Amino acid sequence: MSDISEIKHLGQHDGGTVTVRGWVQTTRSHGKVAFVVVRDGTGIVQCVLVQKQVPAEVWVRFEHLHLETSVFVTGSVRADARAPGGYELTVQDLTIFGESNDYPIQPKEHGVDFLLDNRHLWLRSSQQRAIMRVRNEIESAIHDFFYQRDFLRLDTPILTGAIGEGGAGLFEVDYFEQQAYLAQTGQLYGEAGAAAFGKIYTFGPTFRAEKSKTRRHLTEFWMLEPEVAWNDSNDNMRLQEDLVSYLVERALERCRDDLEVLERDVAKLANVKAPFPRIDYTDAVRILKEKGHEIEWGEDLGAPHETALAEDHDRPVFIINYPKEAKAFYMKENPADPRTVLCDDLLAPEGYGEIIGGSQREDDHDKLLAAIGKHGLPVESYSWYLELRKYGTFVHSGFGLGLERTVAWITGRQHIRECIPFPRMMYRLYP
Ligand code: 4AD
Ligand code: MG
Repeated sequence: MSDISEIKHLGQHDGGTVTVRGWVQTTRSHGKVAFVVVRDGTGIVQCVLVQKQVPAEVWVRFEHLHLETSVFVTGSVRADARAPGGYELTVQDLTIFGESNDYPIQPKEHGVDFLLDNRHLWLRSSQQRAIMRVRNEIESAIHDFFYQRDFLRLDTPILTGAIGEGGAGLFEVDYFEQQAYLAQTGQLYGEAGAAAFGKIYTFGPTFRAEKSKTRRHLTEFWMLEPEVAWNDSNDNMRLQEDLVSYLVERALERCRDDLEVLERDVAKLANVKAPFPRIDYTDAVRILKEKGHEIEWGEDLGAPHETALAEDHDRPVFIINYPKEAKAFYMKENPADPRTVLCDDLLAPEGYGEIIGGSQREDDHDKLLAAIGKHGLPVESYSWYLELRKYGTFVHSGFGLGLERTVAWITGRQHIRECIPFPRMMYRLYP
């Protein structure tokens, strides 16, 4: 038995004989020569079968190779500059491990509902694999960015008793005769962590029972949430623009091939460098009115507003200091204009909309208590959170970056459902 090699490492075996294990991606034959392209997740390799050079029983197996048949292929490695990956295998032996007859996804146009029903198989397609690799790179880059800056990763609970972002959009769970919710955010726990460790981040799945069927909403999505003691709203935005610039840079540096498979216009991403412009909410409303949008001061911004505001810029743009009513209870009142709070939404360019929501947190116990009441939230559930303001309160800020929206922007996808392996949406729990 020859050595087993991952396709990515075939170059280490140039001239030698190895076995590759993977799935058939394409086949074609010219009489006495046949070609099989095999994928193993690390790369693809063209395997060449010459009728005269292989045993008869191996040659006939070629007829049984279909899209996604799993195979072991043994052959000699030959450098070929024109081959994808730079090497070819001249086949000596080929065995079928698992047949694949009538694979549902064929190289033709399929409707998106069909593809989502077959998500467990669709993930094998080249564009879907490219998106997942970019997602993986961004996740690694997030951890590297915060590790380099001495942040502690603090894992926060998914089962919670406190409402994070507001009563609407909660998934309720029966928790041993008690009411629990799936976390909408890890932030409140992150704030407790910031008092213990100074700088933390939490990164995990979050849940919103939102009945919105837009291309930007999932019911389960991954959110990165840093929380930093002594950062004010300005420091908070600096951290955001440094992070986002770094994530884009990493994708450009390490995912070139994937972005090419996705036909992403990388020139647009190359502009993404800190600092990002900041527009006060009040100015944003004026700009929107000038552009012919119907909006009154006090209203939250919708997707068309976000697109209109971002279109004037070649990099993400902050909209800052929204009216209190439009935002969550925990945001700190803006001393310069108490009708507003010290917060920011970061809008991605090219119509991708809000990728980050951030704010300075209310650090005054009594103001926070009043805000909890005003938002109609059950004070009992927040007593621990209020205690953070009772025992050594501190200036602190943080933000939440939506992973799938960020991946959708960087990979240029129209809908975020392609940016998570198994999307959960209002009408989708399968597969
Ligand atoms: O603006 P949001 O609701 O902010 C928070 O949850 C804060 N607790 C964050 C914090 O300060 N620690 O959500 C943050 C981000 C949004 O900007 C968006 O990118 C993403 O999370 N997001 C969603 N992504 C996909 N589907 C949904 N339903 C989302 N809701 C929010
Ligand atoms: Mg938001």
